[in-house]
This record gives sequence, structure tokens and C-alpha cells, in this order.
Amino acid sequence: MIRVGVAGAAGRMGVAVCSAVDGAEGMELTARADPVLGVELASVLGDCDVVVDFTQPDVALGNALACLAAGVHVVIGTTGFDVAALEGVGGANVFVAPNFAIGAVLMMRFAAQAAAHMAAAEIIELHHDAKLDAPSGTASRTAELMAAASGRGAPVIHSVRLPGLVAHQEVILGDIGQTLTIRHDSMTRESFMPGVLLAVRRVAALERSPLVGLEHLLFSD
Ligand SMILES: NC(=O)c1ccc[n+]([C@@H]2O[C@H](COP(=O)([O-])OP(=O)(O)OC[C@H]3O[C@@H](n4cnc5c(N)ncnc54)[C@H](O)[C@@H]3O)[C@@H](O)[C@H]2O)c1
Repeated sequence: MIRVGVAGAAGRMGVAVCSAVDGAEGMELTARADPVLGVELASVLGDCDVVVDFTQPDVALGNALACLAAGVHVVIGTTGFDVAALEGVGGANVFVAPNFAIGAVLMMRFAAQAAAHMAAAEIIELHHDAKLDAPSGTASRTAELMAAASGRGAPVIHSVRLPGLVAHQEVILGDIGQTLTIRHDSMTRESFMPGVLLAVRRVAALERSPLVGLEHLLFSD
């Protein structure tokens, strides 16, 4: 049994993660940390093998460092914090994904492939209006992958924040007389849960840490 704690347990994503962990084979939900619940992460680390963090950009790094100092592996979904600050920090493993939805990972991969063959591209990312960071972690990561694949500068990113949205992204590539649009939509937060549970199962055995991107757990190349 993997003992799993959730940081940000009262948040939109945290609630979905708690219920996914609760229903998953081989896992036990042992802690729900959130100031809203009056539970500090530091006070529950002894009950956890893995902590899943869906909190805020300004607290995710501190939470991760506390986990590592306690020898607890951490799976981070929070976006908009400095992952590089976790380089070289030992104690346990860190896995970070700007997007845990398989469709979004495929969208990023196809966009990078297409970027090598089309003249130019722009990214439109659309999220609910309570999202704290812009551009989204997914859009920044897509731009990074497209820049590496094309050898050009990173595509411009446009951010839309509106009630009614969950998490959506469109990559539009243009060339002479044609465009190609690659779009992914997360309609519900359940879309992220298979990826989160996969990361919880794999984080203890990572060959490097921090490891960024669900593609590393899904694809052999
Ligand atoms: N990687 C992905 O696939 C993915 C998908 C959706 C959202 N996100 C990201 O996840 C994060 C959370 O999103 P959300 O919509 O659930 O936000 P939210 O505001 O609904 O929830 C965040 C929760 O974190 C809690 N929190 C604040 N400080 C804390 C601390 N020190 N310890 C523990 N909990 C703390 C808050 O009280 C709140 O309940 C955001 O950064 C968002 O961009 C990532």
C-alpha cells in the first residue's frame, strides 16, 4: 500500500485527487493538508510515502522542500513555480507535470512535431477565471518543446480567463495558404486523475529527480 497525502486537499484539484486516491488499488489516502481544513503539511508527513501537491505557485516549492527533507516523495501538479530550485535536492524523488491529462500530453507532442514542418505558430490557452498564473504551465511547456523541435523562437502565448472554462489549449500553426490547429479540452478535473495516479505509483522509482513531464512515464522515446 502506498500511503498518499494530498496538499491542497480542499482545492478544486485536491478534492478530485483525494477521491481518486481513495478509489485506487494499492493506495491509501492517509492525509489531507490544507489551511482551509486546519491541517499543516508538516504535521502529516510522517503518515505519507508520497505527497501530491496541487496548491498555489507561492507555496509549492516550500511544500516540496519539506517533503524531501522528510524523505517523502512528491508529485507536483501546481504550476507557475520555479522547478529548477529543486535541482540537486535529495532525500526523495520529485515528479512534476504541468498537465496530467493524456490528451494534453499528446497535444504537446503533436504540436512539437508539427512545429518542425510549419513556418510559424501561436498558442491560445483558455482557463477558468480563478487560475492564478498566466501563461499556463502547459502553454509554457508546449512553447518550450516547439522551440526545441523547430529551432526557432518560442511561439507567442495568448491567455484567456473566463468562468465556465476548465483547461483548454489551441496550437495554431500557419504556413503558405494553410493552417493546422491542434486543440485539447479538459472538460472535468477527472481528466487529470489517471496521470496523477500513474505518477504516484512511479515516483519512488524515478531514475532522475526532479523529472518534469508526464510524457516520460507514458512513452519510451
Ligand atoms: N498539472 C495539472 O494537470 C493541473 C491541472 C489543473 C490545475 N493545476 C494547477 O494546480 C494548482 C491548484 O489548482 P486548483 O484549481 O485546485 O486551485 P485551488 O485554489 O482550488 O486550490 C488550492 C488549494 O491549496 C490550498 N493551499 C494553499 N496553501 C497551502 C499550503 N501551504 N499547504 C497546503 N495547501 C495549501 C488552498 O487553501 C486551496 O484549497 C494550480 O497551480 C493549477 O494551475 C494543474
